Amino acid sequence: MNKSSINAVIIGTGMIAHVHFRSLKTAGVNVLGLVDANPEQAKKVAKAWGVEVFEELEQALKHDAVDVVHICTPNIFHYEMAKQALLAGKHVICEKPLATNLSDAIELQQLAAEKNVVTGVPFVYRYHPMVREARARIASGELGSLHLIHGSYLQDWLLEQSDNNWRVDPTKGGASRAFADIGSHWCDLMEWVTGERFTQLTSHFHTAQKERSTAATETFSDRNNQAIDNSQKASVTTEDIANLLLVTENNTPATLTISQVSAGRKNRLWFEIDGSNSSLEFDQEKPEQLWVNTREAKSLIVRDPTQGSDEQKRLSLTPAGHAQGYSHCFDAFIIDFYDTILGATPEGLPTFDDGARAAKIIDAALNSSKQKQWVSID
Ligand SMILES: NC(=O)c1ccc[n+]([C@@H]2O[C@H](COP(=O)([O-])OP(=O)(O)OC[C@H]3O[C@@H](n4cnc5c(N)ncnc54)[C@H](O)[C@@H]3O)[C@@H](O)[C@H]2O)c1
Repeated sequence: MNKSSINAVIIGTGMIAHVHFRSLKTAGVNVLGLVDANPEQAKKVAKAWGVEVFEELEQALKHDAVDVVHICTPNIFHYEMAKQALLAGKHVICEKPLATNLSDAIELQQLAAEKNVVTGVPFVYRYHPMVREARARIASGELGSLHLIHGSYLQDWLLEQSDNNWRVDPTKGGASRAFADIGSHWCDLMEWVTGERFTQLTSHFHTAQKERSTAATETFSDRNNQAIDNSQKASVTTEDIANLLLVTENNTPATLTISQVSAGRKNRLWFEIDGSNSSLEFDQEKPEQLWVNTREAKSLIVRDPTQGSDEQKRLSLTPAGHAQGYSHCFDAFIIDFYDTILGATPEGLPTFDDGARAAKIIDAALNSSKQKQWVSID
């Protein structure tokens, strides 16, 4: 069996579904069909992709040839769709957040373990070669004991009152918006890179835009700069900004700022990890570089398939200076997922265990913000 004999279906045909499709093609996986709630959109995308339209998920799940389901819909549908797919015995990639509440995420994690299928949650920043390099350097002890973890994940696509999207609405996106949407990526990445799990946190959620226009519904992937009728507004209950203090199991302190209203910041996931010997710094918008600092000198390490850790080398697809980015991370995630179906055990594949872990941190952050106090994570 090889990847071309594995059949996938994609649920949802929006921004991230296109990224999944492209990566599946790159991996050589056969995409059998798609499902979308909007029949016109389903038809249009199916034609472009050259795949079949299934009217509903149930129809795709009944199809014996379907091996893997990719869930790329708004967050609120993830739990039910992933549950149905697992019950049908399919392998599942479910977009983050795995579910919009902790108990649903844990149920999915347990069901996946019972069904003994391969699961994935696309925490794809793990797949930047320089992130792998950072992880390897920490694991080797190069940084010494960790003194401090700090960072941020900033975007600006919800800056204005006229910006809106289903993510803003808790009935579609869940009770936490900015933190669940992008804070979950940062927390997953930091636990994975440092090898230290967060054990407690305190958070402060803030909504900068108290009202948003109901006329604008899509500004994440499709901002068209048209004038928006701002006269119809709805109040906003989900957070634009989250500030957190966290502590790891080794008592290492961490600080995190999450925002979707920071002008000029597009997708700036940034972290610095400071150890007793040296520190390192990574910026997702400059992913070919890793800054490594000692008290004496600051050095810039550039991605190079002939240098550094085995995992940096494994995930480096192009020579140094031939830039890789986000979509290569996605490609690598998809390849590792399908190789796992074929029996491989690649390092760092994020699964439903990691999705449930993120749900636990999101739950703790929501509770802490409401209760205005420190909350334990496990
Ligand atoms: N891993 C990442 O880096 C990453 C990046 C972006 C988005 N995401 C996640 O991907 C998911 C989708 O985000 P997006 O930006 O692609 O959204 P989107 O709005 O662009 O697309 C959503 C798609 O789902 C379809 N849809 C809605 N309800 C449906 C239903 N009941 N059944 C079938 N199809 C339905 C819509 O018609 C649309 O095609 C979200 O959960 C988001 O958090 C992950």
